[in-house]
Amino acid sequence: MKALILSGGKGTRLRPLTYSGAKQLVPVANKPVLWYGIEEMVAAGITDIGIIISPETGAEVQAKTGNGEYFGANITYILQDQPAGLAHAVQIARPFLGDSPFVMYLGDNLIQLGDLRYFLQQFSQQQPDALILLRPVANPTAFGVAEVDDTGNVLQLIEKPKIPPSNLALVGVYFFSHIIFDAIANIQPSTRGELEITDAIQYLINQQKHVVAHKLQGWWLDTGKKDDLLEANRLVLDTYMTASILGEVDAQSQIIGRVQIGAKSQVINCTIRGPVIIGNNCHLENCFIGPYSSIANNATLVDTDLEHSVILEGAKIAGIHQRIIDSVIGQRAQLTLAPRRPKALRFLIGDDCQIELT
Ligand code: DAU
Repeated sequence: MKALILSGGKGTRLRPLTYSGAKQLVPVANKPVLWYGIEEMVAAGITDIGIIISPETGAEVQAKTGNGEYFGANITYILQDQPAGLAHAVQIARPFLGDSPFVMYLGDNLIQLGDLRYFLQQFSQQQPDALILLRPVANPTAFGVAEVDDTGNVLQLIEKPKIPPSNLALVGVYFFSHIIFDAIANIQPSTRGELEITDAIQYLINQQKHVVAHKLQGWWLDTGKKDDLLEANRLVLDTYMTASILGEVDAQSQIIGRVQIGAKSQVINCTIRGPVIIGNNCHLENCFIGPYSSIANNATLVDTDLEHSVILEGAKIAGIHQRIIDSVIGQRAQLTLAPRRPKALRFLIGDDCQIELT
């Protein structure tokens, strides 16, 4: 059994964060989203992993993730020259996949730990040509959607339908036998110009191949947008966080609940109410840090009141006298109080940023 993790694509929905990096490297609880997928594979016993990368962000993904040794896996990087679709990614990975059955995992998706192992067992026992996972969602038009009969057989799959036949979305985890390559060879690009994996699975259904669907019970998130990223961060902190304090906390500070503070970080006169994760080498002074916040390495927060937010590496926030909530602050971004008169707001805001003032 091999794994193919997709970490190419453009990441347009997470701009501006994705101008300077891959969307799969955006951190959830201070760990790149992509790494959760790799760890999930290894936990299920799959260590031969291919990762699809793009020309724009491939080098960064490769430099950060390495050859797999860190995860106990063997990683092969496969360059996709353009984001020509999920089925295209499978097609170009054929030399790596060979005739092995494989699991395909979308690198910006997060599923609850342990679920993959269960579905892998189902796939190995039933030996279908494809096994897909479905989950009810509130906004099916944003996903691939399945129409399923009363006995659970998949009748039809449609990518991003305007009028969805059900609320059952295709989760970004798929199990395939090598027959999927024949299906891909028989489909055409969709109206958005991509070779769609939904079309390839539909082809299998039309050919009376054995396609089974299971409903995912645990949580699943596609982290492709800001609110989904915050929700993923909340869920991961809520589910997996354990307390550990490696940095320095002064006597005036109060640490409540599950809080992690990384090495060489300093916490001075702060109240931190978990679940919260703070990386290495951070400086926090006179702050309240509320639940569901992740602060990456080398961040500085002074006189700041923060909750339910993700702060990326090297960001600086100082002297903001209003509570910051539901926010994602990019790498090295600075949010500080104007140091001079006239008292006014001064901005240098990059493309596609979103600022909400009261
Ligand atoms: O999240 C689940 C959904 O993922 C499914 O319900 C849809 O059926 C499926 O098509 C997919 O839709 P998205 O619009 O979310 O796909 P996205 O373009 O975001 O790509 C998913 C991942 O695959 C992402 O990590 C980028 C990567 N990718 C994407 C394309 C189009 C590649 O590596 N190569 C590609 O050519």
